Amino acid sequence: MDAEQARQRIISLSDEIRRHNYNYYVLSKPEIGDFEFDMLLEELIRLEKDYPEFSETDSPTRHVGGDITKDFRQVIHKHPMLSLANTYSEEEIRDFEERIHKIIGDEVEYVCELKFDGVAIGLTYRNGSLLQAVTRGDGIRGDDVTTNVKTIKSIPLKLHGHGFPEEFEIRGEIILPHASFEMMNGQRMEEGDEPFANPRNAASGSLKTQDSTEVARRKLDGFFYYLPGKELPLQTHYDCLMAARSWGLKISEYTVRCKTIEDIFDYISIWDTSRRELPFDIDGVVIKVNDLRQQDLLGFTAKSPRWAIAYKFKAEQVTTRLVSVDFQVGRTGAVTPVANLEPVQLAGTVVKRASLHNADIISALDVRIGDMVFVEKGGEIIPKIIGVDIEQRPDAANRLSFISHCPECGSKLIRTEGESAWYCPNESVCPPQIKGKLEHFISRKAMNIDSLGEGKVEILFDHGLVYNCADLYALTYDRLIGLEKTYESTEEKKEKRISFRDKTVVNILQGIEKSKRVTFDRVLFALGIRFVGETVAKKLGSHFISLEKLMHADFNELIEVEEIGEKIAQSILMWFSDQKNIEIVNRLRLSGIQFSMDESLIMRLSEKLSGLTFVVSGIFENFSRDELKKIIEAHGGKNIGSISSKTSYLLAGSNMGPEKRRKAEKLGVPIISEDHFLTMI
Ligand code: IVH
Repeated sequence: MDAEQARQRIISLSDEIRRHNYNYYVLSKPEIGDFEFDMLLEELIRLEKDYPEFSETDSPTRHVGGDITKDFRQVIHKHPMLSLANTYSEEEIRDFEERIHKIIGDEVEYVCELKFDGVAIGLTYRNGSLLQAVTRGDGIRGDDVTTNVKTIKSIPLKLHGHGFPEEFEIRGEIILPHASFEMMNGQRMEEGDEPFANPRNAASGSLKTQDSTEVARRKLDGFFYYLPGKELPLQTHYDCLMAARSWGLKISEYTVRCKTIEDIFDYISIWDTSRRELPFDIDGVVIKVNDLRQQDLLGFTAKSPRWAIAYKFKAEQVTTRLVSVDFQVGRTGAVTPVANLEPVQLAGTVVKRASLHNADIISALDVRIGDMVFVEKGGEIIPKIIGVDIEQRPDAANRLSFISHCPECGSKLIRTEGESAWYCPNESVCPPQIKGKLEHFISRKAMNIDSLGEGKVEILFDHGLVYNCADLYALTYDRLIGLEKTYESTEEKKEKRISFRDKTVVNILQGIEKSKRVTFDRVLFALGIRFVGETVAKKLGSHFISLEKLMHADFNELIEVEEIGEKIAQSILMWFSDQKNIEIVNRLRLSGIQFSMDESLIMRLSEKLSGLTFVVSGIFENFSRDELKKIIEAHGGKNIGSISSKTSYLLAGSNMGPEKRRKAEKLGVPIISEDHFLTMI
């Protein structure tokens, strides 16, 4: 074969493979068997290897993965990625329809769609090739996960047909079908990693995995439901979706047009039941005005379009028997009662355990071992027990009593006034607290040391190598190589062994090294200070800029920060007053962890607001509250949560509470409008 023949063959093979991918993954109507398909793909891989000059960036071989993403680049969305107004009530669907009829008149057609329970994604195609895939992020900017999305076989890297705009964006949801979810969790458990709680989390975790070959293995899928731009010469949302389908994008076959509110209710009621038969999760249906001019007329609120609404299904429930109760100690020492259940199918997965909340709820439910209990899976990760079927209570059912001592270390449990949880106070010795803190430290949203999953942390702890996060930075190759753990595989019912070989150890050490570049706000979150979640850590980070300043902040300085109330402030003060924590901080500092905001990462547009503090309240014409706060910070100003005599301005929108206005007036804080504010910058 000469070069020209190879080029021709690469083109024709690519087209053929694209067509088979489309038939198999989008239409579910394969024309050839797996073996034949694999032969074609192998031939293409071979040819591209021999003639790399003819290998195209949108070749179907890219679905296999191979590239590694070190850090996911942040991208500003061309159109903000808004969410939908949600409702659980039919009444509110009627209100939605009435509102629309008032504005538009009676001639309104709707499109009803499934509400996919996955991870929102925006794909940009340029000249028919997939250019970029970005997650929602905070709606303004998201993560560029293109490399990983390219491994999803139902997502065309090159569009079919014709008529697509030169450049356009299409939004949809990346989901993980139930079968792939079960398979993936099985494998994770085999490898000593914690299983994912539900398909949505698994999809989201997969998109942020660094090794795209691993992502390719996970069998993600995607459905598309919205074209935010105005590039298409079409009049309706439905026609846009059909056009996108003709280009090879996966549009749900259950997207329908409806004329009347009764049709909408029929659609809701069919899917409330039929969702159980779908091979993936949905959590409701979405109703959209079909005509694009009518959509324009209705417009958007700060958060969501006025032309669409999501009807969310009530959480699914099943009954099953309560077999026993374990008491688990979390990283904060809080003791959670966890029910062991007779396995039962719920919302697409098998549930064996469920949360029993806390001691108060156990006594309020009067739940007993042997009871038939109602289990519900809502938006939360862990299913909950929400009630007891007293009628079916066996005669010998024993009352459940909460434990008085820690099941792990034997310490007497304590309970703080006003809180429902019991705590084990033995923070620095109690094993699950130590392990939990380490697991939190390495977790994705914290230091993101993904080469060190939960199972591996346990091995390090069991061998006495790590007790706190600072110990991680003292690990060496020699200490890690050869470490082992045996465990009972529940799947195969036999003993299995995890051991640290060369590649594992190198990966772990590289992951730890890389974590030294993690930004200060995430380090702050990773420290695991009680009540300092991701958002609070971000606020603290951008307010104080360095750990040094945060450590020395007093109560008043802390509660000045937006969203920091008394409870959080107390907890921060307590954490830094503990000498053990100061030692950890000092050791982390010596290891090279980021303890201040990298000023170059803070988007600085000007210093015009430097030294000024703002309270932003109410609803605004041009920007959402969060956008205004970002603008303030970008110009060097600070946002604070409540008005004091030191506040420079109260930036007031409509609907602001009268209390805020009164307080500002009393303290002589100038009240400014959005327009006034914009003139300041
Ligand atoms: S339309 C401007 N349609 O649900 C509105 N969203 O809770 C664009 N979702 O942000 C969204 N299925 O991530 C739309 N058929 C569907 C959907 C859907 C799932 C997600 C999406 C959205 C969220 C809102």
